[in-house]
Amino acid sequence: MDIETFRRAAHDMVEWMARYRAGVASYPVKSPVSPGEIAARVPARAPAEAEPFERLVEDFERVILPGMTHWQHPRFFAYFPSNASLPSVLAEMLTATMGAQCMSWVTSPAATELEQRMMEWLADAFGLGPAFTGSIQDAASVSTLVAVLTARERASGFATNEDGLYGGAPFVVYCSEEAHSSVEKAVKVAGLGRKHLRKIPVDGDQAMRIDLLEAAILRDQSEGLRPLMIVAALGTTATVAVDPLDAAADVAARHGLWLHVDAAYAGAALLLPEYADLARAAARADSVVVNAHKWLFTNFDCSVYFVRSPGDLVRTFELLPEYLKTSEGSRVVNYRDWSICLGRRFRALKLWFVLRTYGLDGLRERLRAHIALAGDFARRVEADPRFELTTRPRFNLVCFRYRPDGVTDAARLDALNLALLEALNARGKVYLSHARVRGEVTLRLVAAQTDVTADDIALAWDEITRAAAALGAG
Ligand SMILES: Cc1ncc(COP(=O)(O)O)c(C=O)c1O
Repeated sequence: MDIETFRRAAHDMVEWMARYRAGVASYPVKSPVSPGEIAARVPARAPAEAEPFERLVEDFERVILPGMTHWQHPRFFAYFPSNASLPSVLAEMLTATMGAQCMSWVTSPAATELEQRMMEWLADAFGLGPAFTGSIQDAASVSTLVAVLTARERASGFATNEDGLYGGAPFVVYCSEEAHSSVEKAVKVAGLGRKHLRKIPVDGDQAMRIDLLEAAILRDQSEGLRPLMIVAALGTTATVAVDPLDAAADVAARHGLWLHVDAAYAGAALLLPEYADLARAAARADSVVVNAHKWLFTNFDCSVYFVRSPGDLVRTFELLPEYLKTSEGSRVVNYRDWSICLGRRFRALKLWFVLRTYGLDGLRERLRAHIALAGDFARRVEADPRFELTTRPRFNLVCFRYRPDGVTDAARLDALNLALLEALNARGKVYLSHARVRGEVTLRLVAAQTDVTADDIALAWDEITRAAAALGAG
């Protein structure tokens, strides 16, 4: 492609992008295609001959778009959002255009130094304070894996990297039974063995039982195992429950364990002074992860990982083959040594664009608006006798279910709610997802889309009540 073709195509594409984002609400939120439908429209082999670019653009609209779920749709209420605010998209265009691989300071000094600043900005804005530094990882799963590996190295006196995990008593990791599956994956990948993950039961608020946590640690110690780490949630995936962070920090301090706070989703709320107590408690951790790519309006991927002891981190990951040696020495940071991959994207740029375009006050306003919208939705649920809240609404998530008069059988209620979800999502106007609370199916509405409005919440409630009425009592 020559530069003039690129220029024309890029202008057309920006037009397409603006049109798409202006009209995204007109698409069915969830892609209606069946498994295999898109693959069937893509040839089985790559083309031998070059094709005109226009044909590609046509095929993108014809073949690909119908198979897309529209995550930036204002009525995407499922899972957690993957907000791609417009300033973050613009930054991503620049990042892709420069195509820099930012593994070392020298391979793009601005990428490293802006990342350092962004981590400082966010540690300060979240109320974690200057004791934390960190780096931008691709995902919370990787941040948590990095935390587990660093904790393992520190606890073994950095011997595991050298000798492997042979011999020695097994390390044990603790999280609640509501923790994200990435904790279990990290324990598996780190070679600790899944059977050495203790999933501590939760209380009625879906938060970790600290009495049972400590009992489990004492039991493991008495059996000669090595308690290593507690992963506490600041916002679980199913219900954004918050584990008792202060109490978890006390237990970690008493037993010399690493405390990692998984604030992947709800950590964004730490920007709000009303959550200062949570920030103060989270600041007692050894590491904290917040996904800017969820509720902080920065397009995927951008996971900010804070640590107290970057020295331990670097000692865990650093390797210095000749071809990576540079002359700056300790005057610079080389982020390749702060995680698993050597190659790194320039992720700080989009965070910079977002933080400056909205300003912290603008972000706070949006977070508060989302929390208020969830409150509005929760009141609608509470006021309708056919529905019930399944947990106390927290942040901007509402967990609720359909419970028509006279239906009390648990299995029937589960089936009814899954059928309601299926019918609702098939209509294409809204997209919600589900989880289980105390073993029972619950529907989840997350009011977190960048530009979601009160009208979207009203429409969602209308859709839900209509779909429920059509279903009756099953
Ligand atoms: C609490 C929590 N932790 C971790 C993750 C994993 O995030 P990622 O997709 O960035 O790995 C999620 C994803 O939703 C989450 O909700």
